[in-house]
Amino acid sequence: MVKVELGGCSSFVKEFDYKEYVGKALAAFDVLESEKGAGNDFLGWKTLPVDIPESLIADCEAIKADWQKRGVDLAVVIGIGGSYLGARCAIEALSHQFVRPEGTIRIAFAGNNLSEDYLAELMDLVEQSNTACVVISKSGTTTEPAVAFRIVKDYLEKKYGKAEAAERTVAITDAKKGALKTLSTQEGYRTFVVPDNVGGRFSVLTPVGLLPIVLAGFDVRAMLKGAADERAELLKKGEKNAAVEYAAMRNLFYSKLGKKVEVLVNYNPKFQYLGEWWKQLYGESEGKDLKGIFPASVNFTTDLHSVGQFIQEGDRVMFETVVKVEKAQRSIVIGSDEQNLDQLNYLAGQHVEHCNAMAALGTKLAHIDGGVPQIEVAVEKIDAYNLGSIFYFFEFACGISAYVLGVNPFNQPGVEAYKKNMFALLRKPGYEAETEQILKRI
Ligand code: PA5
Repeated sequence: MVKVELGGCSSFVKEFDYKEYVGKALAAFDVLESEKGAGNDFLGWKTLPVDIPESLIADCEAIKADWQKRGVDLAVVIGIGGSYLGARCAIEALSHQFVRPEGTIRIAFAGNNLSEDYLAELMDLVEQSNTACVVISKSGTTTEPAVAFRIVKDYLEKKYGKAEAAERTVAITDAKKGALKTLSTQEGYRTFVVPDNVGGRFSVLTPVGLLPIVLAGFDVRAMLKGAADERAELLKKGEKNAAVEYAAMRNLFYSKLGKKVEVLVNYNPKFQYLGEWWKQLYGESEGKDLKGIFPASVNFTTDLHSVGQFIQEGDRVMFETVVKVEKAQRSIVIGSDEQNLDQLNYLAGQHVEHCNAMAALGTKLAHIDGGVPQIEVAVEKIDAYNLGSIFYFFEFACGISAYVLGVNPFNQPGVEAYKKNMFALLRKPGYEAETEQILKRI
């Protein structure tokens, strides 16, 4: 279960103010639970941990088994934003960072940018591999994944023939509409549905996240169990509810202390993409109506040697939320050295993780001294179960937080602006008037 620790905030806030924000968070909890708040047609994520049927997981496993029979050793997973970040976060967190176990399918992500170099280098890998493809787009019309899929599809059809390429392609999209749905029906791809009432950034526990995670070889049943247990815990309304505590404190920092930036901190490189997933979740959910806490992320101790300087002494605009992992999964003890030229013998016999923990504690105290409050979000270890807990915790707390802030957590009107300009500049048919306008500006 996720635990929230607020000791690193106490010197910054008055008890009276915190109580006021707990009250606001409890009211927001009621809005979320009553399902009467803004965006309430997008609340399907709330029950996913208990709604996902065993048959869906079995279908994912059947695809994996079928592809392995065909000798597939690479799955290109195409998608962007909410159709990408959850799977990437889970796979990066659960994978060995250097070695891919024999017989497993390698996952390569594509369609999350428009870089020609990225795609060309991806195709170098595809050419050396026995490849299959998962294309994920709820709308079925997003440019980045559509461009990548056109290239991968063309390659698969040339290499394996149209029928075999179709067997090596799975589409995850809307149940009824969109270009990807039409194409899937036409080509006979196996498909999974992104539920209508689940927005992209809340979709990691749908096939959008589950299929890639199964293909990568990880235990989605444990992940769903972690999410279900977290849900049961978070449904207990009260001042000590972890999501209420987190939502209350971050809104207090924002509204009373002028802390406009929240930095999600990890001390384990496996959680780099947790930061990316969390940034989308909070950035798209809260950053609207000229309001919102800007979500940033850092990897410590790595970034203590770069932006750590700013956090310690720069403009005091931020607070930190540290994702604390109680236990390392592996064990390495620092040895003793006769010469001790590096002067590390005082650490001989200590676990590396002990040094990491002391770095975290030292940083916490230094940042508090420097005017940066710290919330801790702790989990026991990095595994599928705890990742499920973390996903559900941050989603639930996000709903509460955004309602405290007074915005609709479940829409993202701002993501359309760049697309309109891009289409006008690319001269997409139907955008002639916008093209004329934009050419006057550049
Ligand atoms: O959260 C969102 O809705 C967006 O970030 C989408 O996930 C992203 O734009 C991808 O959209 P789609 O799945 O329709 O291709």
